[in-house]
Amino acid sequence: MPLNTQNIVILAIESSCDETSAAVIYNGKMLSNIVASQIIHEQHGGVVPELASRAHQQDIVRVVNAAIVEAEIQKNELSAIAFTRGPGLLGSLLVGTSFAKAFALGLDIPLIEINHMQAHVLAHFIDEPRPNFPFLCLTVSGGHTQIVLVKSPLDMEVLGETADDAVGEAFDKAAKMLGLGYPGGPKIDQYAALGNPEAFEFPISEMPSYSFSFSGVKTSLLYFIQKHGQDFVTERLNDICASYQQTLITTLIRKIRKAAKELKIKEIAIAGGVSANKGLRNALQVEADKQRWSLYIPDFQYCTDNAGMIAMAAHFKYLEKEFSHQQVSPMPRFQI
Ligand code: KG4
Ligand code: ZN
Repeated sequence: MPLNTQNIVILAIESSCDETSAAVIYNGKMLSNIVASQIIHEQHGGVVPELASRAHQQDIVRVVNAAIVEAEIQKNELSAIAFTRGPGLLGSLLVGTSFAKAFALGLDIPLIEINHMQAHVLAHFIDEPRPNFPFLCLTVSGGHTQIVLVKSPLDMEVLGETADDAVGEAFDKAAKMLGLGYPGGPKIDQYAALGNPEAFEFPISEMPSYSFSFSGVKTSLLYFIQKHGQDFVTERLNDICASYQQTLITTLIRKIRKAAKELKIKEIAIAGGVSANKGLRNALQVEADKQRWSLYIPDFQYCTDNAGMIAMAAHFKYLEKEFSHQQVSPMPRFQI
């Protein structure tokens, strides 16, 4: 198979959960990043795996074509096809994986598998300013909450993660309990901005080392709602969201502060869907100013799931000639 050594042009596909996305990256520069969010899940109050795979199947050709058109490239200019191998929902991953394999086979170009969580971290290399190595990344999404030590683009170590729910789940489940619908994170963020974060107190979990736990705070909100009743919740919704969100933010900041101090690292980044949270972004900036950290926060379009981050990770893998075989299959629990 001939390798394109002049220009590296990669088409990347992301289909790990409920976003069908495709992006084109040209010598490390993002030319397009198309994201189709599946609204079908809203009426079910959460992602229904079977419906997610069907929606990916319906949308993928349209989304890939849109990414190619927006990038103004021809298919025969592509150097490689990249795809998310995991972690994620098996049925959803299968759609992107199969599509990428067929595309690469048809064009006789390399196939590159990407770890979704590694890609969230590497989203920081799409635009300036880029973090310097080694840096610490607080990776917070709907399925993960991790503190990652990033030694180089493809060398990362998970220092700690959640023992139960991810912080994104703590947002989404709280929103469901409060009757705010799905996805809940952005809704809580919106109401929290209008409320008093000191109004109510929720417990902050004490976990060893760099690990997290969010199931306790979620349960405490359930008891709070049962105790005070629906009318009170409606009346004080802003304050409840602000106080609950503040508890989650404090938990995250305590751990990243501990890691930064113990590892003596002042280059700090956040990544993943929850890094779109305005309260978290502001609180981290305040902490960064206090601790004299260089803080890196991705552009909103690269926080939640997108193929741009998959394309960025694939560019690094192409440089190292890390290609996959045609026998590759999805890994729903793919670890960094
Ligand atoms: O990274 P992502 O798009 O998908 C996964 O890999 O899981 O993250 C999705 C998560 C959801 O839990 C969603 O509620 C949360 O990110 N999220 C937010 C905000 N925007 C998305 N959480 C809090 N505040 C937000 N503004
Ligand atoms: Zn994600």
